[in-house]
Amino acid sequence: MAEKEYMIYTDGACSGNPGPGGWGAVILDGDSVQEISGSADETTNQRMELQAAVEALRFVPSGSKVKLHSDSAYLVNCFNQGWIKRWLRNGWRNSKGNQVENQDLWTQLIELTETKEVEWIKVKGHSTDQLNKRCDQLAREAIDANGNSRVDDNSEDAEAEYRSNLAKNQGRQMRRLGLLTGGGDCPGLNAVIRAVVKGAAYNYDIESIGFNNGFKGLVENDAALLDDYAVSGILNRGGTILGTSNRDNPFDFRPGGFNYRETGVDRSADAVENLKKWDIEGLVVIGGDGSLLLAHRFSELGVPIIGIPKTIDNDLPATDITFGYDSAVTTATEAIDKIHTTAESHHRVMVVEVMGRYAGWIALQAGMAGGGDIILIPELPFEYSYIVEKIMERRQKGKKFSIIVVAEGAYPAGEEPIYQQKGDVKRLGGVGPLISREIEKLTEMESRATILGHLQRGGSPTSYDRVLATRFGVKAVELFKDGCFNEMVCLRGSRIKSVPLEEAVQGTKRVDPSSEQVRTALAVGTSFGCPL
Ligand code: F6P
Repeated sequence: MAEKEYMIYTDGACSGNPGPGGWGAVILDGDSVQEISGSADETTNQRMELQAAVEALRFVPSGSKVKLHSDSAYLVNCFNQGWIKRWLRNGWRNSKGNQVENQDLWTQLIELTETKEVEWIKVKGHSTDQLNKRCDQLAREAIDANGNSRVDDNSEDAEAEYRSNLAKNQGRQMRRLGLLTGGGDCPGLNAVIRAVVKGAAYNYDIESIGFNNGFKGLVENDAALLDDYAVSGILNRGGTILGTSNRDNPFDFRPGGFNYRETGVDRSADAVENLKKWDIEGLVVIGGDGSLLLAHRFSELGVPIIGIPKTIDNDLPATDITFGYDSAVTTATEAIDKIHTTAESHHRVMVVEVMGRYAGWIALQAGMAGGGDIILIPELPFEYSYIVEKIMERRQKGKKFSIIVVAEGAYPAGEEPIYQQKGDVKRLGGVGPLISREIEKLTEMESRATILGHLQRGGSPTSYDRVLATRFGVKAVELFKDGCFNEMVCLRGSRIKSVPLEEAVQGTKRVDPSSEQVRTALAVGTSFGCPL
């Protein structure tokens, strides 16, 4: 005999938290509709949410299949995101190490779910879901009755109304977007995740599924629903709550991740399949040039994509600014300020190496903001004679120190950029110490080099990056809502717009040596280590 299937809606309410509370549930079983409710004198909203689920599950016999709908992320996530398993492993302690509250009700729920097959479904509350709204009414009526009142209603009218509401609810399948962060991390990623999740849920009732660790999570189906709670308190946090990876390419996927020598496998079909499993209508990829190129390849396979540009390098041509850049420049500027005082005290030539592979935006911006005497960028290969000339010119004026700001991708004219070899992998870096050594040889002045490295990618985003990331995230949701896929959001002047993804992944935005910004730096005496 087929197992019986139940459709359950639950909700809890409280007058004051803690205070008198109530709970309500609607149970649909084949042709019949049951309403149950109850109250407690001094309780909390969370307890009432749990109590409603406990009472409703008690109502259905063992062996049943249940679809339990609740607007409580607390209740639903607990089961869907594996919190309970973690609590049980950690002796009922939550991720902050605190004792889990309402252990008595959670224990009852665990017992009840052992004998029933329960699917937990999060519905949007605030009166947007008819049956959730009815549960809320039942809960409130129960508080008003001020006792453990129980209401049973099987009238034909009520039943007809529920059937019609249920049909509306079932027809209204929530739209879902997928979300991942790929490539090197940068400040502002969490701000954009928050903007997408909140913008989608609050305005359009769209759910967000976050894939962990960039494209790796997409291939391996490592994902979870992101709700309001998941993105609370992350606006000012560096890094990405989703994790990221700049080496997992679904089209050339290497199991083991770190082992570059392994032969890659094309796992793009798995990635597409996983999007289908989650019922995802479109994928939002937050990334730099590499991740957006992968996103573009998926769009060619028919996956609807929306790109959001991020990189501290600011080298994507389709947007005036990427978020992360301003924070990296701020960190580099603060470092140059600090180096300045020690350079001045010791009469040294201090070299500060900043990030920037193919484009010198960070070096130019932080170099100008920090008053660098010499700025070296990949766009303008340098010559030592020009560097020495500037240092000597300063000495003659009585300025016994100099500051050089160099992008990691800068290199001497006629030579190659400087790489460090680690195993089979070559990474840019080391031009700063090289310049410092040459200066000691050529000028007999003392010189020191500092490589800022990943410091520039860490920490809290600046207010500018937080706002830009939020604007990008909300715009991405607008595009999704309108079904406007295979576009990348961008900043043009002061306006947020979008460009076709295909256009967005072409080329690299580099510093124009004849630009007004470079001319301004020259006008205040900055040298670029070459004839200009
Ligand atoms: O693209 C951003 C960036 O920070 C570059 O400036 C830098 O060269 C590179 O990433 C470093 O990558 P990784 O974190 O893999 O060393």
